[in-house]
Amino acid sequence: MKVRKAVIPAAGLGTRMLPATKTVPKEMLPLVDKPVIQYIIEEAVSAGIEDILVVTNRAKSAMDDYFDYYPELEERLGRAGKERELQEVRRAADLANIFYVRQKETKGLGHAIWRAKRFVGDEPFAVLLGDDIMRSDKPVIGQLIDAAEKYAASCVGVQEVSTAAISKYSSVKVEPLGPRTFRVTDMVEKPRPEEIFSHYAILGRYVLRPGIFDILENLKPGYGGEIQLTDGLRELCKQDTMTAVDFEGKRYDTGNLKGFLEATIDFSLDHPETGAWLRDFLKEKASTL
Ligand code: G1P
Repeated sequence: MKVRKAVIPAAGLGTRMLPATKTVPKEMLPLVDKPVIQYIIEEAVSAGIEDILVVTNRAKSAMDDYFDYYPELEERLGRAGKERELQEVRRAADLANIFYVRQKETKGLGHAIWRAKRFVGDEPFAVLLGDDIMRSDKPVIGQLIDAAEKYAASCVGVQEVSTAAISKYSSVKVEPLGPRTFRVTDMVEKPRPEEIFSHYAILGRYVLRPGIFDILENLKPGYGGEIQLTDGLRELCKQDTMTAVDFEGKRYDTGNLKGFLEATIDFSLDHPETGAWLRDFLKEKASTL
């Protein structure tokens, strides 16, 4: 069955990017000239997703304002002949059908995804985490959708990470299935060294079958006292086929300061307005360090 819907959980408190995220949602921080969440939505749209649910909270209304029209601003830009800016402002509002639901309590990623139950209904859906920004030729979520459709299964996006890093993520137990594709048989969130299944970590992209909702509904809190999506997926992979794709692309963790700066530099180097200038600036800077 075709994957047409995506869920973007964006109800976190942004505690790794304080103080900036005290009043600005971390999803709205600018990466060069666009907010982080726009990159996520553009990835979903370029993989053929039509309807997107953003799971928000009471401090995040800047997000739905951003994806709305802004007549006063648009009129001003039109009158000033600022066509390019006008188009960019309108484009953000016309990217996709965006829906919102609030996670009324901050109870974890699994709980946030469970809030999408009514929106999703009975079809497979994509999940894109707002902290994980991807740079790739083919959209990373599209790579997962291909595998999910081919095997009529759920699919998680993985890459190999170091022993030091895996404890920040989830570790999956895998068996080879095809090129860059595995079958998932178990997984663990934020593993201690003795719990590591493999160095393949799930990195922010999923295609899930709707059976996940019944599992999440009955799940006990796990790591950090939160309802963990990984604990739900651990059940799901025992009930139903789950695949993992070692996706092609570079992933940035924009939920922490260093990852955010890394993405800012790489994206600025690629940007037509800033690329050449930044290259010269960095060279000059490096010679003084
Ligand atoms: C979340 C998930 C974890 C995943 C990570 C990176 O963790 O719970 O399984 O590996 O994102 O995508 P968080 O970064 O919210 O601690």
